[in-house]
Amino acid sequence: MMKDLASALTAANADVFAKLGLDPKHADVRRSDRPDLGEFQANGALAVAKAAGKKPQEVAQGAAAAWSATDLAPAPTIAGPGFLNFKVTADALAKRAQFVADDAKAGASPVEHKRRVVVDYGGPNVAKGMHVGHLRASIIGESVKRIYRFRGDEVWGDAHFGDWGFQMGLVITALEDELGGFDDKAKLDARLKSLTLDQLEAIYPAYAKRVKEGDIDVRDRARKATAALQGGSELHRTIWKAMHDVSMAAQKRDFASLGVDFDLWLGESDADPLIPDMVADLDKKGLLEDDQGARILRVAKPGETKKKKREDGTVVEVESPDPLLVVSSEGSAMYGTTDLATIVQRMRDQRPDLILYCVDQRQADHFEQVYRAAAKAGYAERDQLEHIGFGTMNGPDGTPFKTRAGGVLKLQDLISQAEEKARERLKENEVDANFSKEEFEDIAHKVAIAAIKFADLSNFRGTSYVFDLDRFMSFEGKTGPYLLYQAVRIKSILRKAEEQQIRAGAIAIEHESERTLALALDAFDGALRTAYDKKAPHFLAEHAYNLAQAFSGFFANCPILQSEGAVRASRLALAAATLKQLALTLDLLGMEVPERM
Ligand code: ARG
Repeated sequence: MMKDLASALTAANADVFAKLGLDPKHADVRRSDRPDLGEFQANGALAVAKAAGKKPQEVAQGAAAAWSATDLAPAPTIAGPGFLNFKVTADALAKRAQFVADDAKAGASPVEHKRRVVVDYGGPNVAKGMHVGHLRASIIGESVKRIYRFRGDEVWGDAHFGDWGFQMGLVITALEDELGGFDDKAKLDARLKSLTLDQLEAIYPAYAKRVKEGDIDVRDRARKATAALQGGSELHRTIWKAMHDVSMAAQKRDFASLGVDFDLWLGESDADPLIPDMVADLDKKGLLEDDQGARILRVAKPGETKKKKREDGTVVEVESPDPLLVVSSEGSAMYGTTDLATIVQRMRDQRPDLILYCVDQRQADHFEQVYRAAAKAGYAERDQLEHIGFGTMNGPDGTPFKTRAGGVLKLQDLISQAEEKARERLKENEVDANFSKEEFEDIAHKVAIAAIKFADLSNFRGTSYVFDLDRFMSFEGKTGPYLLYQAVRIKSILRKAEEQQIRAGAIAIEHESERTLALALDAFDGALRTAYDKKAPHFLAEHAYNLAQAFSGFFANCPILQSEGAVRASRLALAAATLKQLALTLDLLGMEVPERM
């Protein structure tokens, strides 16, 4: 496995530092954020100067003088207060680009220590339907899963459907009202057979609204129904199963259309059988406390508090994080109980080293409670559990995205909207003329998904962004469609080369634009490692864009098929390497490149 240029420079610089008696730990060479000064930069002279009893400038001068010019790079120049600026040789760049061209993984390095990783993402709720709230979880989680797997970890994606909580009790209650009770078995059976997702999705919000507006009767009956379901009532389980199946089928279809796939299609309900033993275990370990009929598990350490305003306006100091509610006063398992039992289940079934939860940042407190509880109970180490939170997708008014009618937009409707816009754009660009209806529809779908996903992944996951389909769908600028278009353009060049029987050959770097492209190809591994370490696909999205831009400059300045001999062969190899790496990067982001467009 060939190292990327920054790592190779770091190793060489560390030798120089060691030779001079400077701590090689500070020899790091990185991509420069001022490429006009140098392509790579090391600023460790500043960190070691004090220990060496010298000025940073002097240390830098010493390091530059001690650097023996290698195939990799001539001695660095010095800038500012003591930065070392490196420019790699054309030879080193060509070698690296050649490696990327020949490597099946386009220069990506595998992880040093393989781990077993569960990625918990998607998380739609049965009965509530899948809406854009679950869009980010699905898009980011899918990408994180692919990144981890690509680098060599053993990974399980788990949908963790919300199929067990209060919402199920609520819909059962609504059905009870509709049928005037569950006594007539035949009537119930017939109703369950005719149940559709649209009905479920209408029933849930109507009843949720009633509870929200203070209908205590409905609330209490729904709580009882939830407890009955969890207590194993056969009637409740039958109704639950019908709702579950209707919802699941639709969600599988939605996920497939989004290009999201799970290894485990499990839900909260699957952890339920583990709860009685777990509660008994927590009890035996002395971790549970009674609290007004409920059972709680305290997770705050002594002295960890927050200020809380009481209803009468006075401010009190309370423990923080809040205790985890394990058993409600009705005897129901709560959201956190299920999450805790799911940890027990995963530790038993997948034996993961790490569980990543790709869930809205607003659930951060919930996960902190669950993780601490798991650590206290000895179910997992605290650092085996990690919440990868993200911000919201907002409407133009800056609050979480809603439809014009004020409701949450269903995922399938969003995808349809995006496809419609993609068709429009493709027609404007006269892409429709050359394709069969079937191929055109396939292209429109891929463009639509790329637009939605790239818009999401090009932001750091922690930041919120504004939903703007027109902007996402532009064929210019930092968008999914632009990237697909660049990839397709390279495919077409390679097809022409093949028709003309032109072969790729050894890569040589001469033109400035070839240099820029080779540098971009080299940067893939660094971007991938950062995306992996930070669980943040946007580093790869950024790379995809930089690579496409570098190719665009190369394409404008360096004729490929119109040139000749070794130059043509080299450029063709560069184009092929770019396509391979770009398509790989887009795949890691969950996007598919059409053959033509
Ligand atoms: N169903 C939850 C929701 O819609 C998300 C589930 C996230 N995963 C988890 N293990 N809690 O908010």
